[in-house]
Amino acid sequence: MIPMTGGRAGKLIVVEGIDGAGKSTQVRRLAKLLLERGYSVVTSREPTDGPWGRKLRESASSGRMTIDDELHAFLEDRREHVATLIAPALERGDVVLLDRYYFSTMAYQGIRGADVAGIRAANETFAPRPDLVLLLDFDPRTAIKRISESRGDVPNEFEKLENLEAIRRIFLETAQGDATFRIVDGNGTPDEVFERLSAAALSLLLPREGGGGPDEGRTAVG
Ligand code: TYD
Repeated sequence: MIPMTGGRAGKLIVVEGIDGAGKSTQVRRLAKLLLERGYSVVTSREPTDGPWGRKLRESASSGRMTIDDELHAFLEDRREHVATLIAPALERGDVVLLDRYYFSTMAYQGIRGADVAGIRAANETFAPRPDLVLLLDFDPRTAIKRISESRGDVPNEFEKLENLEAIRRIFLETAQGDATFRIVDGNGTPDEVFERLSAAALSLLLPREGGGGPDEGRTAVG
C-alpha cells in the first residue's frame, strides 16, 4: 500500500464542490494546462464508470438507495478506483486529477444523516490523502438556476436548494483550518474561475519561485 502522505512520487489533486459549480469544465481545463506544461496527468471522476459507479448514477434517477446501501456503493466504487487507477498512477509519479473524492461522500451522504467524521475515517483506511483539494465554492441558488437552464431539466433530488446549501456547509467546515484545502471562488466567468483554480494548482506543483516545470516541481517537493 502506498503511504498516505509524502514519499510517493505523484501528486493527488482533487476538485470538489456542489452540483452546478462548473467542476467538470474546470477539471478539463486544468488537465489540459498541466499536460501542456509537461506533466503526466491522469484525470478521473467519482462516481466512476465502473459497475458500482454506474449503479449509483442509475439510482439518482431511478430511485435512491437506502443511505447504508449508498454509502457502501460509494466506498466500493472508490476502493476499486484507488486500486486500479489512483494508486498505480501515484506510484508512477503522475499527477492524478480527480473530479470528486471522499469529501463528496462526507458532504452528500453526511446530509442524509451518516456520520461525517466516520465517513472520513472509513475512507482514509484505504484512500490516499490528497496533496491538494480545490474546493470550488459557489452560490447554491445560482447553481440551481444553472442546472435547470443548461440541462433543461428539473433538478433531481441531489440538486435541490436546501440540500446544496447543507452540502456546501459541510465542504466549508471540512476545509476550515485544513492546509490541504484551497477555497476557490467559483463565481464569475469560467476564465476568471480558471485563473484562480489554476494558480492554486500550480502553487502546489511549482512550490519554488521560478520553478519551471515538472522536473523542477518534483525535485523541489521530493
Ligand atoms: P457528478 O460529479 O455531479 O456527476 P454528473 O456530472 O455525471 O452528474 O456526481 C453525481 C452525483 O453523485 C452528485 O450529485 C454528487 C453525488 N456523489 C455523492 O453523493 N457521494 C459521493 O461520494 C460522490 C463522489 C458523488
